[in-house]
Amino acid sequence: MSNKVYIETYGCQMNLADTEVVMGILKSKGYELTKKIDAADVVFVNTCSVRDNAEQRIHGRLGNIGTLKQKNPNLVIGVLGCMAERLRDELITKKKMVDIVVGPDEYRKLPELINNAVAGEKGIGVKLSRTETYEDIEPYREEGLAAWISVMRGCDKFCTYCVVPFTRGRERSSKLESVVEEVKRLSERGFREVTLLGQNVNSYSDGENDFSDLLEACAKVDNKLRIRFMTSHPQDLSDKLLHTISEYSNICNYIHLPVQAGSDRVLKEMNRTYTIEHYLGIIERARKIIKGVTFSTDIISGFPTETEEEHKMTLDVMAKVRYDGAFMFKYSPREGTRAFKMEDDIPEDVKSRRLTEIIDQQLQIAYEINQKLIGTEDVVLIESLSKKSDQFYSGRTDTNKIVILPIGNNVEIGDLVKVKIHKGTSATLFGDFVEIVDAYKR
Ligand code: SAH
Ligand code: SF4
Ligand code: F3S
Repeated sequence: MSNKVYIETYGCQMNLADTEVVMGILKSKGYELTKKIDAADVVFVNTCSVRDNAEQRIHGRLGNIGTLKQKNPNLVIGVLGCMAERLRDELITKKKMVDIVVGPDEYRKLPELINNAVAGEKGIGVKLSRTETYEDIEPYREEGLAAWISVMRGCDKFCTYCVVPFTRGRERSSKLESVVEEVKRLSERGFREVTLLGQNVNSYSDGENDFSDLLEACAKVDNKLRIRFMTSHPQDLSDKLLHTISEYSNICNYIHLPVQAGSDRVLKEMNRTYTIEHYLGIIERARKIIKGVTFSTDIISGFPTETEEEHKMTLDVMAKVRYDGAFMFKYSPREGTRAFKMEDDIPEDVKSRRLTEIIDQQLQIAYEINQKLIGTEDVVLIESLSKKSDQFYSGRTDTNKIVILPIGNNVEIGDLVKVKIHKGTSATLFGDFVEIVDAYKR
């Protein structure tokens, strides 16, 4: 039997969560996960379409994977995720080595499509659904400290640059009870952190409960289990949600709130549905209601027709908010979106220069924020050994800051530890041990 599956995942956390759903579906049919691509009978690539460079990278990777068929002609190769949805049968007709193409809402068909592929029949499943949430599927998760749960799927916002509403379809939410059950199972298995995921997680609605109801119910499961969430859209960020975050100590004081651009005119062209005034109002209220809250954002530089002055307005809003972190991108035209019909009129060198200015300013701000934290104390969840040295641990604060701490003092991975910060760069804090707040499984 062809039963060893290897999956490579690109794109956002929603895709990482989907990979676990795919493995959950396949495990129940007797498939095994392998981490060695050479040992696999089935290779899946879970793909992302959000920007052209993401797709190009994956095309390159698919080329490499295709060569494995020379050694193993029976190998089944499948493309999953957003590129499958966007490019559909083109992937099979143009890339002979691809056997299966399956979009985000048709993963239940995978066992059947694999069987067909083994029998020599190529297969495709790219229908989008208005109801599929996979809430009855137990995702396959390895043991660990941090887990994520997709609580809503799809996006109804249709920002004019964005391909996601086309690759992931309409918004739909899992029932609160099913999410809470999953959080309970994760807590019992010893997980220390759960991230609730959705493209617009705060527009979650299961008909009876909104996102703050869901967050509250999850926080109540286990007060030692940290709850994170992303991504929030400024349009749906209610004061009720801000109060819920502040009321529960295990709901993390960190909000990823993409602003995208600093000018109301560009925001309107992007169909972002808020003004900068409204956005800054949310930040101000959040800072009042949630003590010590931190923010991160997404920025798109060089959207069609963006003037130099409007670019400066993006720098300006970033300087006003003073984000702790930011994901910053050059605009990439995506076929099928409304912005695709606009001319991509900002020359590449201008886009690059604007992006560099944005990144440089952000690094400076993050550096300054982190300098101010020197001498303060915070609680860190120890996640792993530091990538750079096995003499140090790496952990994260409730506010999503990475902290490096020397090993020792009986600290183990999974512990919650109070640390005193003694150094900071734009991306990382360095701390000294103060005390163990909560030991893990000891
Ligand atoms: N739903 C989330 C994230 C969507 S994708 C949100 O609304 O914030 C993640 C980020 O990719 C977006 O926030 C946006 O900044 C960026 N992005 C999306 N489409 C893009 C495009 N065509 N070109 C450049 N960046 C893009
Ligand atoms: Fe894309 Fe906008 Fe939806 Fe985010 S809110 S996924 S940027 S369309
Ligand atoms: Fe990419 Fe699809 Fe996520 S386009 S960012 S994998 S929703």
